[in-house]
Amino acid sequence: MRDLAELRKLHSSKWLRYPADVLPLHVAEMDFEVDPGVRAVLAEMVAKSDLGYLGPIPEVPEAFIGFAQRHWGWTPDAAQIRMTTDVGVGVVEVIRALSKPGDKVIINSPVYHSFYMWLDELHLTTVDAPLIHESDVWRLDLAAIEAQFKSGARFILLSSPHNPAGRIHTLEELTAIAELSNKYNAYVISDEIHAPLTYADQKFIPYLSISAAQRRGIMVTSSSKAFNFAGLKAAIIVTQNQEMFEELNAMPEANHWRASLLGGFAMAKAFAGGDKWLAETMTQLDHNRKLVKELLAKYLPDAKYVIPQNSYLAWIDISCLGLGDNASEYLIENKKVAFNPGTEFGDQFGAYIRLNFATSPEIIEEGIKRLAS
Ligand SMILES: Cc1ncc(COP(=O)(O)O)c(C=O)c1O
Repeated sequence: MRDLAELRKLHSSKWLRYPADVLPLHVAEMDFEVDPGVRAVLAEMVAKSDLGYLGPIPEVPEAFIGFAQRHWGWTPDAAQIRMTTDVGVGVVEVIRALSKPGDKVIINSPVYHSFYMWLDELHLTTVDAPLIHESDVWRLDLAAIEAQFKSGARFILLSSPHNPAGRIHTLEELTAIAELSNKYNAYVISDEIHAPLTYADQKFIPYLSISAAQRRGIMVTSSSKAFNFAGLKAAIIVTQNQEMFEELNAMPEANHWRASLLGGFAMAKAFAGGDKWLAETMTQLDHNRKLVKELLAKYLPDAKYVIPQNSYLAWIDISCLGLGDNASEYLIENKKVAFNPGTEFGDQFGAYIRLNFATSPEIIEEGIKRLAS
């Protein structure tokens, strides 16, 4: 892996947002190099000045279907996979097409901070059905979700797997959501961007693989998170029911052209040929997710952290430090280490930080030492 001096020369938000003496463990980018196969596709396109608009790209559905079959035993319908700019744009355009201003959308806090911004952008009302946290498990509160549907919510925006809790929703939970959505005529938008980053000891269930989910369910996903090229801007909107697909014809056609050519072909390459790179990456992340536990036990034993079932984000309760809601700001200024503040994921989570462990063991240790100091 690249050392800190090399990483500091990168152009992404992770490396440019804070001054150079701050160790950045916040935004969800990995410090690992991108799969050489993907880099070769990109290098060749750049070398040939092959940088126009995105046209027809059957390679993406083909590659995604292969990936879904190999990893999840599920076969999406190629004719119902649409391109979009990124997962954020995809979710916003899907909901914009199906909603009217003021509609209520359920989220499950603590949840990925952009969900709040996307719904504000659409002038919708965000209603919360917080996850239940019991015996080291974060899970969906089905009763709270039903209560929100009963009081008129027309959508639920799921983070599946869940960022920042690292939770894989179970088949039972997802089936219950599907049944509720049918009972209350509500739509389920399932953001599955973290799904390929599921650890070998877990089983990820694509929402649309559940038949009860298909009439009112939409998946939005991309290879960008798992294969580490968020800057390339391409994602897909997936349905698995003809009526649902046609309802989304209300979205602007420009969705497709607003995705990037490089992103589209990188996605095709990653989903088709990235399994080996992904398996190696997951081995490193598996080591790291456990290392965070060991290092917290060593340096900050009163912090609370549940090892995630998916992805590379550690959701840590640091109330033992008594830093209050502004812990992250304090840590950036005084300890020169950046995490995402818990309050980004929901007002009531000031006791938490989110730490990105997709980096080297040395950098993780340095970050936790700075936190504990
Ligand atoms: C749950 C979730 N959805 C979406 C995104 C962002 O996706 P995109 O960059 O494709 O909009 C992230 C980024 O971390 C995420 O964690």
